[in-house]
Amino acid sequence: MCGIVAYIGEREACPIVLEGIKRLDYRGYDSAGIAVVRDGRLVIRRSVGRISALEEKLDHELEGATLGMAHTRWATHGGVTEPNAHPHTDRSGKLAIVHNGIIENYRALKAFLAQAGLTFESQTDTEILAKLIGYFYEGKLEDAVRKALREVRGTFGIAALHADEPGTIVAARRGSPLIVGIGDGEYVVASDAAAIVQHTSQVIYLSDNEVAIVTRDGFRTTTLDAAPVSKDIEEVEYTLRQLELGGHQHFMAKEIFEQPESLRNCMRGRLDLEAGRVVLGGLTSVSRELIKTKRIILTACGTAWHAGLVGEYLIEQLARVPCETEYASEFRYRNPIIEDGTTVLAISQSGETIDTLAALREGRERGALALGIVNSVGSTIARETDAGVYLHVGPEIGVASTKAFTGQLTVLAMIAAFLGRRRHLSHEECFQYLSGLAAIPDAVEKALQLDSATRQIAAEFVDANNWLYLGRGLQYPVALEGALKLKEISYIHAEGLPAAEMKHGPIALISEDMPVVVLAPRDHWYEKVLGNINEVRSRGGRVIAIASEGDHEIADLAEHVLYVPDVTELLQPLVTVIPLQMLAYHAAVLRGCDVDKPRNLAKAVTVE
Ligand code: F6R
Repeated sequence: MCGIVAYIGEREACPIVLEGIKRLDYRGYDSAGIAVVRDGRLVIRRSVGRISALEEKLDHELEGATLGMAHTRWATHGGVTEPNAHPHTDRSGKLAIVHNGIIENYRALKAFLAQAGLTFESQTDTEILAKLIGYFYEGKLEDAVRKALREVRGTFGIAALHADEPGTIVAARRGSPLIVGIGDGEYVVASDAAAIVQHTSQVIYLSDNEVAIVTRDGFRTTTLDAAPVSKDIEEVEYTLRQLELGGHQHFMAKEIFEQPESLRNCMRGRLDLEAGRVVLGGLTSVSRELIKTKRIILTACGTAWHAGLVGEYLIEQLARVPCETEYASEFRYRNPIIEDGTTVLAISQSGETIDTLAALREGRERGALALGIVNSVGSTIARETDAGVYLHVGPEIGVASTKAFTGQLTVLAMIAAFLGRRRHLSHEECFQYLSGLAAIPDAVEKALQLDSATRQIAAEFVDANNWLYLGRGLQYPVALEGALKLKEISYIHAEGLPAAEMKHGPIALISEDMPVVVLAPRDHWYEKVLGNINEVRSRGGRVIAIASEGDHEIADLAEHVLYVPDVTELLQPLVTVIPLQMLAYHAAVLRGCDVDKPRNLAKAVTVE
């Protein structure tokens, strides 16, 4: 999604904001731009493509400016062209804004401005906002920004500068994240803490409909009606080191290999084995209500939705609470029935996915207890929930989610045990299950030894353009996740299916050209899955099985077997997904794809 970085202080602004947008480039973008105020003049450069193309356009005119901002654009309104890249300006050419979000009523605003005689150079909604702020400008940028934003429907995170006010950045948000980093005599405004952490760890998070007026001497925050708002200064949780590759070729590889450690961090201080219980501080304030809940709706998108499907299973098995998993984008628009005692639990790595956020709001407005499982501390979803649990797996930079997925599974496993223990699980049952959970990081470590085996398989099937992933029960969501990983980073078409559904149509696809990955750990669906493998084999299909260590029977049926350690049955998805992540990674590398920045994808989807 679009990235925003703005700087005001005593240092040269240009390198700081450029470095900032480079830190955000993992979020995905297609063009970039920069604006600085120098000697009472606004200087703007924009370009299509990579930030390096923008850098080639930078010249001495930007040098010496200590106020500036930069932007990476992910196109929504209007194609990927230089005129559509941000920053956009007002009619005077003295005011510039960068924006993340969508101005929904931009057509009406455009008609209004056109009637006032304004003309437009781009096809973007952002230019309309820039012109509207300019229309209201009467010598005070903050007033003009507030006035214009009161007219806007839609979402925005913006930063605005004016050449006549060289000591001010005005920033505002509704729906799109914005953070103000507080340094020593300097401030960095950004859409993501990754652009701030090399300068300071002290931040304020703007809430919806808040405006920050940032100068070299300090900052103030107000509502859109200019009422003062006081903000708490918070500490950013992660460090610069976590944002670097650390010897790996790609962030995705780094994050796959980090999983034993990230899962230990996720569980740290939360498993009380002796007492046979789980301690989730984030849920303390709502625990009474949660224990009595009659129904849980898990809502999420993409990989997080797959985690929800596993979570549904765990919660129903351990806590015996009816639970369902809903695509957030569907749930929010389908007039859902929320009865008394319903809990809506949003799952999101970024905490900014607009559909997940809207689904959470929908649930809460209809009276549900609103909970979240989020990785990004201080993100919008985390702030809007009644309570929740952080993953604590560290920042995830690779666009393809890996360690966040296993973190989400782990938190869901802990919530299932938390509820189960308080409803009917015995001490002994909970102790057994939690001991199994505590053993998972070591099992994941072992599963990571499949790296070279998965590379060989990926190489053997590198030219296959269609893959099928099959699983049953708990392994069905893992099949979906394996297929999603493959398609999003290697652009190979892949489908995940409940193995028994194959007979109802997809079996027609089976041929020696289509590798079929079958999840077949030793669980209570195992015999059935062997039957499905036979069905594939007898039609000439080529099977890659993910099986439990020591299972020799399966070696006679499948062409390739990737053995993962045997773990508690309910927790098997945490290990069976590991070879699938590596398979997708190697396939993408072998096909020469940009693993960390796959085409058309963004790390946080903050538009519908
Ligand atoms: C896939 C992937 C996406 C996200 C989805 C939700 O690898 O990363 O499918 O899982 O966009 O994102 P979050 O979890 O940030 O809400």
